[in-house]
Amino acid sequence: MLHLKPLSPGFGLEASGIDLSERLSDEAFVEIEDAFFDGQVLSIPHQRLTPAEFVAFARRFGPPEPHVIDQFHHPDDRNILILSNVVIDGEPQGLADAGTYFHTDYSYLDVPARATMLYSIEVPESGGDTLFANQYAAYDNLPAAMKRKIEPLVAVHHYGNRHVSEGEARTAASTLTDDQKAKMPLITHPLVRRHPVTGRKALYAVSGSSYGIVGMPHDEAVALLDELTAHATQDKYVLRYSYGVGDVVIWDNASLLHSATLTDPECARTLWRITVKEPVPLGHAEAVLAPTFVQRPM
Ligand code: SIN
Repeated sequence: MLHLKPLSPGFGLEASGIDLSERLSDEAFVEIEDAFFDGQVLSIPHQRLTPAEFVAFARRFGPPEPHVIDQFHHPDDRNILILSNVVIDGEPQGLADAGTYFHTDYSYLDVPARATMLYSIEVPESGGDTLFANQYAAYDNLPAAMKRKIEPLVAVHHYGNRHVSEGEARTAASTLTDDQKAKMPLITHPLVRRHPVTGRKALYAVSGSSYGIVGMPHDEAVALLDELTAHATQDKYVLRYSYGVGDVVIWDNASLLHSATLTDPECARTLWRITVKEPVPLGHAEAVLAPTFVQRPM
């Protein structure tokens, strides 16, 4: 039986009474899945998982998609991306920065991410938190005129952070090799997206990978996206999660933005990450639209 308690007054749930290393019955998984869609962020502390057990659990949510940054795939299973700031003999042991800016995972793919989950292996005494911003609430609280204005708009996405050129700053997305870049076309998604499971409307990926809006001049589109980002990432929509060792934290990419925070490089932080995609290819029809007025990121 799952016990749930809120992580914050607004959203987020912590579950106890469950051991994810065991094969979960369908009933037990449905309880977890319901808590995940209700809470948007679901934390399940005190777990001890092998790579195979972590991947088996992730598969219950949808098909895992290995990250385009393949240098840090787990040697036992490429569905796990190792996030780590640990360097041994000059060799980074994982991806040190998975995005210290608000973004939505895989919003640069035609079939975006349903859930991302982190399993914490080692955590610093302080810092290394993840921030989550509730995009249902951000959408609900928009003025009616803004809702009407953005309802029909379609944003153009590309791997990266629209505000920062590659390699320029700590908040640039991690650099891709030429081969990795070749796999990253321009993709479109509605700015206001109906959640594929709950049916609720949410602002979708207004920060991070959104570089323009179809049919809108670039400067105007960026100004609108920036206005929406400023609204959507206000403190009142944000939950800060601090990890303990053994936490499994799962978040709903369709209703959240999230951001890593700066970590002291002297304090080891290692987590395994799996991202599962939405099972239905909702983005396919949108991906073939020819974007106009869109500057491709350099
Ligand atoms: C991520 O954005 O996938 C990772 C978040 C974190 O490292 O806190």
